[in-house]
Amino acid sequence: MSATHGFVRVLRSADLAAREGLDSQVREVQVGDEAVLVGRLNDGQAVAFGSSCPHERTDLRDATFVDGKVRCPRHNYMYDPRSGENVIPTQVARRENLWKLHPGYLPTYAVEEHDGWVWVKATPEPPPTSWDPAVEQPPARAAQRAPQAKSEPDLAAACRATVEVPPKRLRVRLGREFELRLPLGVAPVHTWRVEAPAGLLAVVEQRLDPTSPPRQRVRIAARALGEGTVRCSFGRPWDADPEEVRTYVVEIVLD
Ligand code: FES
Repeated sequence: MSATHGFVRVLRSADLAAREGLDSQVREVQVGDEAVLVGRLNDGQAVAFGSSCPHERTDLRDATFVDGKVRCPRHNYMYDPRSGENVIPTQVARRENLWKLHPGYLPTYAVEEHDGWVWVKATPEPPPTSWDPAVEQPPARAAQRAPQAKSEPDLAAACRATVEVPPKRLRVRLGREFELRLPLGVAPVHTWRVEAPAGLLAVVEQRLDPTSPPRQRVRIAARALGEGTVRCSFGRPWDADPEEVRTYVVEIVLD
């Protein structure tokens, strides 16, 4: 690792290909004591940003680039890697709901390229100018926010009915793992939220499978004997009601 005028040389430019979409890749590099992710957007610009999602600290090494934005693999929040600004859900959610969604901002690092190398600044850039921490405080601590009239899209969302898929029964051996493959639509911000009864079943991994059609693969471990229900809700993270719910009644047996 070589450093000059506050920038650290991290990898060769030729090793950072421009790739967006489901197969895009980010590379983890070490900048001082920090693990930083670098990638190249389709317009050729190299970008560097923090390695965990501001929403719920998900590891962003599996993040992808969509339309020049970083998409977190967990709830599909999207951040501008040039400024760190949250784009989704901030641009589509109602302002008074942002405190529940905690989009925050993504720390970014200045990047330079010269002599065939990518250089990343050792200290992060300041927060984006648009970031307002007061918006992320619960209403009691943000009394300045005025109530807003319900907009037409919100009314439409309120009227949308949730599709409840009939429950499926599964039989799993104690100590074994099983996998749910939940279909994802093409909308970038829809995701499955998976809830499993603690002590009985444990979600051990969730990942995006970019095959066509893309799926959210959820690996679940059977930890104790008994019966429990896994509830999977599909929708945008900030919607009160999911668009679809699938339930799996899991019986955990000895053999
Ligand atoms: S943890 Fe990244 S979007 Fe929720």
